[in-house]
Amino acid sequence: MISRIKGTNDIIEDSKVWEWLEESLKKVVLNFGFVEIRTPIFEATELFDRSVGNETDIVQKEMYTFEDKGGRSITLRPEGTAPVMRAFIENNLFSKGLPQKFFYYGPMFRYERPQAGRMRQFHQFGVELIGSPLPISDAMIILIAVEMLKSIGLNKFKLKINSTGDEKCRPTYVEALKAYYKPFLNDLCDDCKVRYDRNVLRLLDCKRDAKYAENAPKITDYLCDDCKAHFDRLRKYLDDMEIEYEVDPSIVRGLDYYTRTVFEFKYPSLGAQDAIGGGGRYDGLIEELGGSKTPAIGFAFGIERLILALNEEGKIPKTEGLDIYVISVDEEQKIEALKVANALSNYFKVDVDVMGRNLKGQFSHASKENDSVWQMAKTGNRH
Ligand code: HAM
Repeated sequence: MISRIKGTNDIIEDSKVWEWLEESLKKVVLNFGFVEIRTPIFEATELFDRSVGNETDIVQKEMYTFEDKGGRSITLRPEGTAPVMRAFIENNLFSKGLPQKFFYYGPMFRYERPQAGRMRQFHQFGVELIGSPLPISDAMIILIAVEMLKSIGLNKFKLKINSTGDEKCRPTYVEALKAYYKPFLNDLCDDCKVRYDRNVLRLLDCKRDAKYAENAPKITDYLCDDCKAHFDRLRKYLDDMEIEYEVDPSIVRGLDYYTRTVFEFKYPSLGAQDAIGGGGRYDGLIEELGGSKTPAIGFAFGIERLILALNEEGKIPKTEGLDIYVISVDEEQKIEALKVANALSNYFKVDVDVMGRNLKGQFSHASKENDSVWQMAKTGNRH
C-alpha cells in the first residue's frame, strides 16, 4: 500500500465542514467587496527569498524547493501574500486604481515537524488590502478578521497586536535587543544562537527562551513618532469598535516583510500551535518585488486550526439530512425514479437507488443517508 506523505491529510468525512467553513468565511469578505484571486501553487524560489526573507525559518529550512526539468528553482508556496503581490505587479493591477482588495483560499506547504495543528500541507484563507497607508485600513482588516471568526461561531480567541516599526526606528531597536541578549548568548537554544545574528527579533517569540523575552526591551518604547502615531490611532479605532485586543510585544511574526502593525489571533486551548491566524502591514513588499511603492496590509487564517478551535468550542454545525429519496419498485422504474429525482433536485436534496436494492433495502438506505452528511446548517447571523 502506498501511504500519504507525512504531514498531509485526506479530507473525507470532514469535507462538508470544510465546504461550510470556506463558504462562511467567503461570505464575509465578499460582502466587504473583496474579490478572489487564484495564483499558482508553485512560484520561482526567488519570490519567497526576497519577500518572506532569507533569514527566516521558512526560507532557511521549511520550503519545498526543487529544480524542474528546465533547471529552474521552483518552490511550493509556503504562504499566499508574496504570490498575490507578484500577481499584482505582473498584471499591472496598480493601473486599475487603489485600493485593491483580494482574498484567496488554498493549500500552502512548509516542511515543519508535523504535530497537532501543524501540517506540511495546510490550508489558508487569506485577505489582502492593497494601497492604503492609513490606520483605518488596519482597523478594517482586523474588523473583517474578527467578523470572520464570529461568523463561524468562534468566541474564545484572543487578538494580540504589536507594531514592528519601520526602516527608521527598527534598526535602533534591533541594536537594543542585541545588547540585551548578548550576556545570555551562551544559554540560548541553538536556534536562537543563529537567530541572534540573522534575525534577532525572532528571539522574542522563541518558546524555549521565553524567560529572557520577559525583560527584553519593548519595540513600542522605540517607535518613531510616525509609527507611534499610526499604532495609537489603530488602538483608538479598535477601542471605538469595541474590539478586544492585547498589546503583546512578543508578536514579531515569522516573516520579514512586515512593517508597523502586526497581529495574531490566538486560541489558547489549542496548546503549542495556538495561532489560528496572523497578519500585518507590509508597506515595503511591493517595491521590494519590483513594483512601485505601495502600502498594503492583510492576514491569513489556518483552516486546519480553525477546525480544531471549532471542535474545542463545540461549534461544528449539524448537518442537514436528505430531503427526498425516490424509491423504485422494480428495475423498470429505476430510470423513472432518476428522472423524478432530477426534476426535484432543483429544489431539494435528492437521491435514488443505484445498487439494485429491494424496497426494504431502499428504505433503510434512505434513512441512513438522512443521518449522513449532506449539507451543513446555515451559518449564524454575526450581529
Ligand atoms: P503565518 O502566520 O505564517 O502568516 O500563517 C498564517 C496562519 O496559517 C497561521 O496563523 C496558522 O494558523 C496557519 N499555519 C501556518 N503554518 C502552518 C502549518 N504548518 N500547519 C497548519 N497551519 C499553519 C502568513 O502566512 C502570512 N502570509 C499572513 C499574511 C497575509 N500577512 C499579511 N497578509
